[in-house]
Amino acid sequence: MRNSNSHAVVFALALPAMVAASEPAAPHESLMHASSLHHAYADAFPVGTAVPRDFLTDRAYAPRLDVIRRHFDHVVAENEMKWERLQPEEGVFTFEEADRLVDWAEANGLRVWGHTLLWHNQVPDWVFEGPDGGEAPPALLRERLHTHIETVMGHFRGRVYGWDVLNEVLTSDPADPFRDSRWLRILGEDYMAETIRLARAADPDALLAVNDYGMSNPDKLASALHLLERLGAEEAMPDIFGMQSHMSVYWPPVEMIENSLRALAATGVRVAISEFDMSVYDWTDTADRYREALPEPLALFQADRIARVMQLYRRCAADIERVTHWGPFDDRNWKNNFPVEGRRDHAGLIDRHGRPKPAFLAFQSPGVFLAAFGPVPEWRPEEPETAPEVSVRADRPAYLRLSQLAVPPNTLVDRGRLRVSVELALAGDALEAALDVTDTRWNGRASDETVLRVYLDGKWHAFSADVPEWEASGEGERLRVRLALSPHVIEAGEIAFDLEWRAPAADPRGTYLLRWADTAYGDDAPERAGVLRLD
Ligand code: G3I
Repeated sequence: MRNSNSHAVVFALALPAMVAASEPAAPHESLMHASSLHHAYADAFPVGTAVPRDFLTDRAYAPRLDVIRRHFDHVVAENEMKWERLQPEEGVFTFEEADRLVDWAEANGLRVWGHTLLWHNQVPDWVFEGPDGGEAPPALLRERLHTHIETVMGHFRGRVYGWDVLNEVLTSDPADPFRDSRWLRILGEDYMAETIRLARAADPDALLAVNDYGMSNPDKLASALHLLERLGAEEAMPDIFGMQSHMSVYWPPVEMIENSLRALAATGVRVAISEFDMSVYDWTDTADRYREALPEPLALFQADRIARVMQLYRRCAADIERVTHWGPFDDRNWKNNFPVEGRRDHAGLIDRHGRPKPAFLAFQSPGVFLAAFGPVPEWRPEEPETAPEVSVRADRPAYLRLSQLAVPPNTLVDRGRLRVSVELALAGDALEAALDVTDTRWNGRASDETVLRVYLDGKWHAFSADVPEWEASGEGERLRVRLALSPHVIEAGEIAFDLEWRAPAADPRGTYLLRWADTAYGDDAPERAGVLRLD
């Protein structure tokens, strides 16, 4: 059936309104005719979705609630049950937004999963502060954790059927498997078992989960297995391990997912696919390539990957507690802001016109999709042939936009808290490069191994944090360096140029590697350096 009519045939069968996609349809109308996603898995596992706050508060989103009601059987608050939302100030519990979701779900027959009780992110600073403004002593932090869990789980008892108790507490270094968070530093490694026990006591009927990302990575898996073994020995075994499953069309391979899923299930927990979505970008690609539209071959490639992953889940259904999508509407998925703020991704199942994408069909009926279209050839974006350019004049500085930002998979980064700006200026026969980094993820300065490197006239020039020009302040660092320009460079008026900022893995914040031009991370003679023009 692989011919040009096959698209129409399949979508006519499964998604009646899609064949008429060229005719304007009311947003989401076709979804109200498509058969239900969760019904397709009624014999396998529940299928749910995360819900952002404004779907319930802004009437413009009412059609989306209809879509959710039709296609999903459980919901998770995307942000509203996190600590900063439920207890922004000590003792001040704000349940209104979370209650709104629970009320809606109950009125519409959907179950609610709770996310999340303990995380290093979206938790207010006061939690870790002592009365003297310093770090909270362990007993105080323990008491706060206790109060939070008891109050929150008590409030939702019988209405929220399970909780992500420990969120993202692992690293991908099995030799040092637990995330270096304020929880760990103040309470020590026992905090994990203790938290599970607290949650168990607070609501003995709730299912309890440990939840983490990057779980297909064998090293991260090893950390998880180590944690589960330890929790088992401490009589604090969770019921569920959540594999978040934020994927891309390129990674991870289905075999790696299967390996982790089976290994986790073999410890006796059930596995939740807790935050499913699929970016159309490779992790290291920071270009904004699909702003106008998602190219059809890429939409089909994404769907092919989703179909294969869903087939795997069905094969492993006995071990799967649920599959929860983390943002099925393309325009409201978090990947539009991560890892590149404001870039348009297409990580969901429903396009920006409210229509089901091929990914929707693949999620719902993987066999039907693959019979019609599979295997879909891998899509690779074309690399632009021209190198980036920047012009510097004596009377006006130029600013670089760093186009590459790679973060190792074990580092969860709130990109909003990292700002890097680079200013270039001509001063006589020298080029001045001023780097300004603001990083509020961590107090204090960069590690001594942090390095700024500038590629100029065929050579890298390295400056490390121990040079006197390097200034570190509370929230970041600044460095202004001068690089002499040789007469031939000044005469030529243009030169191969690149710039790199690297905060190494030894840094507790995790490695940052930013390059301006060489997105392929070439060696010391980058073939893809940019062009610096001296005007
Ligand atoms: O609510 C404020 C709003 O008042 C303000 O105007 C706006 C300006 O930026 O920000 C809003 O808050 C944002 C919030 O989402 C609600 O939209 C935060 O800046 C933004 O950082 C926050 O992002 C959430 C992220 O967790 C925070 O770490 C994403 O929506 C949410 O999808 C994401 O979910 C996490 C899971 O909890 C854990 N696993 C990873 C997953 C993806 O990062």
